Amino acid sequence: MKILGIETSCDETAAAIVEDGTSILSNIVASQINIHSRYGGIVPEVASRQHLITALPVVESAITEAGVTWRDIAAVAVTIGPGLAGSLLVGVNLAKAIALAHSLPLVAVNHLEGHIYANWLTGAKPVFPCLCLIVSGGHSDLVLMAGHGEFSKLGRTRDDAAGEAFDKASRILGLGYPGGPAIEKAATRGSPSFSLPRAWLKGSDDFSFSGLKTALLHLVRGDDFTDPALVAEAAASFQQVVVDVLTTKTIQAAERLGVRQILLSGGVAANKALRDCFSRRSPVPVLIPPPKLCTDNAAMIAACGYFHYRSGKIDGCDIDVIPSLSLG
Ligand code: KG4
Ligand code: ZN
Repeated sequence: MKILGIETSCDETAAAIVEDGTSILSNIVASQINIHSRYGGIVPEVASRQHLITALPVVESAITEAGVTWRDIAAVAVTIGPGLAGSLLVGVNLAKAIALAHSLPLVAVNHLEGHIYANWLTGAKPVFPCLCLIVSGGHSDLVLMAGHGEFSKLGRTRDDAAGEAFDKASRILGLGYPGGPAIEKAATRGSPSFSLPRAWLKGSDDFSFSGLKTALLHLVRGDDFTDPALVAEAAASFQQVVVDVLTTKTIQAAERLGVRQILLSGGVAANKALRDCFSRRSPVPVLIPPPKLCTDNAAMIAACGYFHYRSGKIDGCDIDVIPSLSLG
């Protein structure tokens, strides 16, 4: 069964065709990074206008690249939230138009649930119950997954999301946008020699990264940070703290709950230091999608849509965007 996925929640215009929720036939992502990087972050109005220009060509490319026709498509899955309202609206309205024009069922997908389902696209076999860490630009969620569509949220960030922390740290260090890849690259040139605070929030599965950001700000103000060697050391120190906190707290929760696997997802899961740390320290198997499937894409939305569709969760053309949608 082939599902068309459409994703426009933030600054990537994406469409994909996925078969049976596991096999990618096409996965097109049109990034707006070059447009937003000159502003140092995403400009919502610009993002939605850009989605308007690119969405239809991206869907057409997904169909062509998969070598399918509209008749082969069983349903259209689209992200309804969380995300930027103006961006989400473009994808949802395009999905509605396609569903009407081709008499296809619509499946509304939660972007965070979509991130988790990137783990079904790698050939690995996720097993329940598993513990999902979703670390993206807007979220750091720790979610227990008991089965398809069965989520209970254990923890979240109390302030900055992990990706947001990378982006802000990068700005503080003058490394540009998006911050995650920039910090990761700079960190390879330095050692983690600065001591920065770890917020353990003992007794809670929540995260907090704003104190770390403030400590970095003070560090940069107090020293000569025009020296690239110091910037590299600060980047490495910052990254080490985020990686250590995410890994330690997730593994502690996994042991406490006795889950069978840990599933990582979201843009920050593209980070090599985080991937290596989890693989090294976790007592249970850790599934991590390849970096391209960690950052925003529509294959994960199509995969998630397949499992909704299979369980009869089909929506009508009255669906609307929910910018503050959460999971569990
Ligand atoms: O999941 P995603 O593509 O979009 C959202 O749903 O937010 O995540 C984007 C976030 C950004 O904050 C970006 O800086 C971060 O993921 N990111 C990374 C890396 N690649 C992307 N953070 C750390 N290391 C990376 N390699
Ligand atoms: Zn995302």
